[in-house]
Amino acid sequence: MDLGLGGRGYLLTGASRGLGFATARALVDDGARVLVSSRSADSVAAAVASLGGAPAASGSAADLADPEAPARLVQEAREQLGRVDGALISVGGPATGTVLEAPEEAWRAAYDSVVLGPLRLVRSLVPHLGDGAVIAFVLSTSVRQPIGDLAISNGLRPGLAMTAKALADELGPRGIRVLGLLPGPIATDRLVDTEAASGDPAAARARNAARVPLGRVGSPEEFARVAAFALSPAASYVTGTMIAVDGGATRAL
Ligand SMILES: NC(=O)c1ccc[n+]([C@@H]2O[C@H](COP(=O)([O-])OP(=O)(O)OC[C@H]3O[C@@H](n4cnc5c(N)ncnc54)[C@H](OP(=O)(O)O)[C@@H]3O)[C@@H](O)[C@H]2O)c1
Repeated sequence: MDLGLGGRGYLLTGASRGLGFATARALVDDGARVLVSSRSADSVAAAVASLGGAPAASGSAADLADPEAPARLVQEAREQLGRVDGALISVGGPATGTVLEAPEEAWRAAYDSVVLGPLRLVRSLVPHLGDGAVIAFVLSTSVRQPIGDLAISNGLRPGLAMTAKALADELGPRGIRVLGLLPGPIATDRLVDTEAASGDPAAARARNAARVPLGRVGSPEEFARVAAFALSPAASYVTGTMIAVDGGATRAL
């Protein structure tokens, strides 16, 4: 199936590594052009080089928690891509901790990067999007069920998912799609780091795999193929919904 990605332009945040980078790779492999972003200029440069550089890939360093970053990123995307057909909005996950342990400061920091950053990006981007454009939020299965030791994710992601749903209502009449992607355990740096933090990475990996009906954690490429489809014109009737990429782990439909 031709996804229709050829010549289209996408802005991806949180995309020097992990799920964002894998999605950038899938988009570029199918003929799209991307602007990838994350906080570290060195990581962005390495990601751009790995994607083959211009004209397929360009980059910009930005912290999504910085209120000035979204407008600048959108401007750069418009200049570098020529046209912006959509965005994949990902950021580093919130700090770990239980409801009773997670400090108020960690909630505030996560609210800035996970909620306000994406919202500001959307506000800056939408005036430049036309019929057929798409905005995809990388969220988590914590939208549908709590994940142990990730109280802040459990608290913030469901609200962002409903915000995406409301935005799909607001932008639908303009032909702009909005959706969320809900990764289960996917073997990115984020997962490896949280497994290492447990003190016994092998046991943590076994526990992560055991809660997945497919019996294993996913690969970034498995997530990216779904994300690239969702961002493509081939998914033209998919909006206002959350797509789980979790090996069946979520205990809800
Ligand atoms: N992997 C999983 O199993 C999994 C499961 C459920 C949910 N998720 C969620 O999916 C999202 C992406 O996860 P991942 O596995 O791809 O994480 P990752 O491997 O740690 O990559 C995170 C990416 O985001 C960038 N980033 C971090 N903070 C940022 C900020 N404030 N502004 C801009 N860029 C930022 C990082 O680069 P810099 O350090 O250079 O900024 C990096 O490129 C996270 O929100 C995570 O919680 C992941």
